[in-house]
Amino acid sequence: SAADKGGWSSFMAKEVSEEPEAVAKTVLGRVRDGAVVIPELDGLDELFAGISRVVVIACGTAAYAGQVGKYAIEQWARIPVDVELAHEFRYRDPVIGPDTLVVSISQSGETMDTLMAVKYAREQGARTLSICNTQGATIPRESDAVVYTHAGPEVAVASTKAFVAQITALYLLALHVARVRGSMTAEQIARETHELEAVPEKISTILEREQERITQLAGWMADTRSVLFLGRHVGFPIALEGALKLKEISYIHAEGFAAGELKHGPIALIEPGQPVFVIVPSPRDSTLLHDKVVSNIQEIRARGARVIVIAEEGDASVLPFSDEVLRIPLAGALFEPLLAVVPLHIFAMGLATAKGLDVDQPRNLAKSVTVE
Ligand code: G6P
Repeated sequence: SAADKGGWSSFMAKEVSEEPEAVAKTVLGRVRDGAVVIPELDGLDELFAGISRVVVIACGTAAYAGQVGKYAIEQWARIPVDVELAHEFRYRDPVIGPDTLVVSISQSGETMDTLMAVKYAREQGARTLSICNTQGATIPRESDAVVYTHAGPEVAVASTKAFVAQITALYLLALHVARVRGSMTAEQIARETHELEAVPEKISTILEREQERITQLAGWMADTRSVLFLGRHVGFPIALEGALKLKEISYIHAEGFAAGELKHGPIALIEPGQPVFVIVPSPRDSTLLHDKVVSNIQEIRARGARVIVIAEEGDASVLPFSDEVLRIPLAGALFEPLLAVVPLHIFAMGLATAKGLDVDQPRNLAKSVTVE
């Protein structure tokens, strides 16, 4: 009912508006003296000290959160991470054992593909940790440990606020493990923790400043037949998530690519008028990475692409080659995905709405897929 939606036109609109709180509430109670201490993981220091590998398993949007988390776990905790679709993991005799921590990610905690992969991992002697948004769900009950995301109940089929909460939980886990393993100094941990705590405010800024403009842009694009998304580094899984969201609720063909892969194939798709979203990494973190993505933009622009750029405030380098620039506040490199995804969620919602579709109940999809 309208009351459940709290005055919003859809659950999805309400849930996107709750993205700042989803992050804030997931961090709440897990920072002590500038360091991340997750109380639920008390007593597991030995486990974290002893693992030599992390395998993240999930499906759909949760798997893209996992792909973002890989960068943080490797950079901060210095443990190699593989991210696998749960349904692929289980059926190919993966090499796992007691030194493997299998981290499952599931909003519902009931996705059958993910649950079966967790059970399989346990049978193989791996340790299991669940990142879940639903208290007492099956997957956390079947796992050795659980870190709950506190996004609140998510009703719309397409996941939004749970996604940012999942990335947040993975970052908390990475910082917790980094402290236990001593892979970062206290100062480094404090700096990244502070960055994480600053994210909710920055998401609010995007919602306040850009929501209307993005929705309008999506409205103009209601007849678009295909949209491409490019990203690099942590922007790559965000490109995949932007494409998935568009497919799920607007039924438009959409694909996400690693920007560096463009010249190895996808550039053949570019023809005049083809809309392409490009997530541009901050020039402050890596000029090299930034400049490579800007040169990708030039290449597709030269072939007539309609370029919609997501870039940090003040980055003027993109202006000459973009049709639209959506701004995100300044943040450390690993925190950009938590910001860059927000315009993409708004865009998918705006486009589906402009097409007159039910954004909460897309055709053929279920919120939680409880069959294999
Ligand atoms: C379904 C939903 C997706 C979701 C995926 C994983 O396919 O339609 O939106 O990302 O399941 O769900 P989970 O509850 O495991 O995060």
